[in-house]
Amino acid sequence: MLSKGFPTMEIQGKTALITGGAKRIGRSIALTLAGEGMNLLLHYHHSLKDAHETQKAAERLGARVHLLKADLGKSSDVHKLIREAYRHFPKVHVLVNNASIFYKTPLGKVKEKDWDTFFAINLKAPFFLAQAIGLKMFRQKEGKIINLIDWTAFRPYSRYLPYCASKAGLAAVTQGLAKILAPYVQVNGIAPGPILPSRDATFQENKRIIKRTPLKRFGDPGDIAEAVRFLVKATDFVTGAIFPIDGGNLIA
Ligand SMILES: NC(=O)c1ccc[n+]([C@@H]2O[C@H](COP(=O)([O-])OP(=O)(O)OC[C@H]3O[C@@H](n4cnc5c(N)ncnc54)[C@H](OP(=O)(O)O)[C@@H]3O)[C@@H](O)[C@H]2O)c1
Repeated sequence: MLSKGFPTMEIQGKTALITGGAKRIGRSIALTLAGEGMNLLLHYHHSLKDAHETQKAAERLGARVHLLKADLGKSSDVHKLIREAYRHFPKVHVLVNNASIFYKTPLGKVKEKDWDTFFAINLKAPFFLAQAIGLKMFRQKEGKIINLIDWTAFRPYSRYLPYCASKAGLAAVTQGLAKILAPYVQVNGIAPGPILPSRDATFQENKRIIKRTPLKRFGDPGDIAEAVRFLVKATDFVTGAIFPIDGGNLIA
């Protein structure tokens, strides 16, 4: 077969699971997919109020939405999340691994616990979600997995090494899964640059980020959500790719 032809996977009425979907970038992705006619499995951990607000906004767009609470740092919660997802919807067609933890770990202060936390939430949980859901997608012969990485996976920030290493691991997992789950499931990554300031960044640090960024500003959650929309809706012929949506940081 030279080409399967166009158009791509029909997403209207199908289901997307978004981790950390209550607020910030996850909320923007959730509402974009709801706007495309998808139903949502909206995962959250602490942000129940935001999750309810995102749920209501998605329902106004016509989506059916189920909220799923889980601590992705606990493998028992990850497996419970998978079981509950399939209790609500028979199939998952899109998995967006968006949830993540991010805090400073200067070299002199890093503890083993920090490594365990970053790797559990940012790498192991996305992997095991992709393992369970990706294999079902493979059997159903369609599906898309999108992992939120970070441009600093490729140019590590010196005070965030365990975080950057966890995201570099997620980049490797993205490319590996893309091979394993082909030809039915497309697995891609998005490497955001500065989109929303982190809670522990000072005013001066944010100013330095803008100065270093070629496009001289922060991006918007909508920039990331549009990249997700592209990968989910516009093409089935991209897999194993990692898109920098980073204001040019990778070429700076
Ligand atoms: N913001 C940026 O500029 C930027 C830059 C580069 C890369 N990224 C990547 O883009 C993605 C979204 O960024 P963001 O800034 O919107 O993320 P965020 O606000 O830092 O985190 C997203 C969500 O992750 C969830 N989360 C954290 N720890 C968890 C745990 N133990 N169990 C389950 N969920 C947990 C939280 O859910 P609850 O609130 O419900 O607890 C949180 O709302 C992340 O993967 C991030 O690494 C973002």
